[in-house]
Amino acid sequence: MTTNLFVLRYRCMKLLRLSSFFFLLLLFSCNKEELSNLASDQIDFPQNLSAYNIYIGDPNDLIPNTDYVEYELGSALFTDYADKQRLIKIPEGSEMKQINNGLPSFPDGTIIVKTFFYYFDKGDPSKGKRVIETRLLVKEAGLWNVADYLWNDDQSDGILIEDGYNTSVNYIDENGQPQVIGYHVPSIRECATCHAVNNALSPIGPKLRSMNIDVDSDMGSTNQLAHFQSMGILEDFEYASVSSTPNFENQLLPIDVRGRAYLDANCAHCHNALGFAADQNLFLDYETPFEETNIDNNKWEIKTNLEDGTMPHIGATVIDKEGVAMIIEYINSL
Ligand code: HEC
Ligand code: HEC
Repeated sequence: MTTNLFVLRYRCMKLLRLSSFFFLLLLFSCNKEELSNLASDQIDFPQNLSAYNIYIGDPNDLIPNTDYVEYELGSALFTDYADKQRLIKIPEGSEMKQINNGLPSFPDGTIIVKTFFYYFDKGDPSKGKRVIETRLLVKEAGLWNVADYLWNDDQSDGILIEDGYNTSVNYIDENGQPQVIGYHVPSIRECATCHAVNNALSPIGPKLRSMNIDVDSDMGSTNQLAHFQSMGILEDFEYASVSSTPNFENQLLPIDVRGRAYLDANCAHCHNALGFAADQNLFLDYETPFEETNIDNNKWEIKTNLEDGTMPHIGATVIDKEGVAMIIEYINSL
């Protein structure tokens, strides 16, 4: 399979949305330079997820094989209340190397796995779950490639898809209320909207500062970076020298810290100097000093866009009520 990813620059997107009348005109006005070709054709992705041997036992239990290491993030992206499992496989004999507080450098052959699922009853996970999709980022010859696997009805495997898929998901929320979500599995083109940095595909989550948290492991509560080092998948360095992005859900933290951590996890992948929304001049990365973010000049826009669900642009079909309430509290405090 050969996948060519074309990212329309945002300028074109905005024009596109203005009116379909402009569509033809646009075809001519967007020149080739504005269409970046995120080719990811080094990999012939297998048709079945099972080819990767990610899980052992019943696949629906999502028990990772020994070479896939689970990782957690300090603050995570909201995606329609789905639960997620994140795994990373670093090829035998190689390791991630530190680059400041950000993404480490990953060796060729790295596979990062993100699986989306819903417990039938969030209050009682023992009642089982529906696994929807597994997204992969695979590094080969210095470049990242993306694939998406839609899980079959009998939950025995995921099947490679390229064009996205919509499905309705029923579950019972923490308060015992039945919920229905019109869940959207993104197309391969959509991956690039969020995962393109400087016109190349990139991981987003596993920055050292986002993984520098305490996690539960077989050895009790340990620092996650130290845990990776002890497993030999991260080079040795003084992990305490890496910053740590706080968890926006931690209500003990001041509201400005929580607000910035939320914007980092949910918005910064597009709103950064090299991202999809770079020309909005709104820089929502946690490490950007407040004066340089332009949050202050966009208070009203941030509030209204979140309240009416216009932002985060794509990636969610329902509004993150708790998150939005917290951001409004944060914006009002400024
Ligand atoms: C709406 C934006 C958005 C879209 C669309 C999107 N992702 Fe992501 N993805 C993220 C963010 C943000 C993270 C990091 C936070 C997390 O793990 O929850 C992430 C994490 C991941 C990860 C874990 C490694 C990493 O980069 O953090 C994989 C693998 C992944 N995405 C694959 C895909 C694939 C494949 C597609 C398309 C089928 C896709 N994503 C579409 C925003 C997006
Ligand atoms: C998938 C990429 C993406 C994500 C994620 C995203 N944005 Fe945006 N954002 C854009 C693009 C593209 C524009 C400009 C076009 C538009 O308005 O749709 C924009 C515009 C904006 C604007 C200016 C709109 C105006 O009315 O002037 C604000 C404010 C904003 N985003 C806030 C946010 C916040 C807050 C989040 C996180 C909750 C977020 N965005 C997440 C892509 C994104």
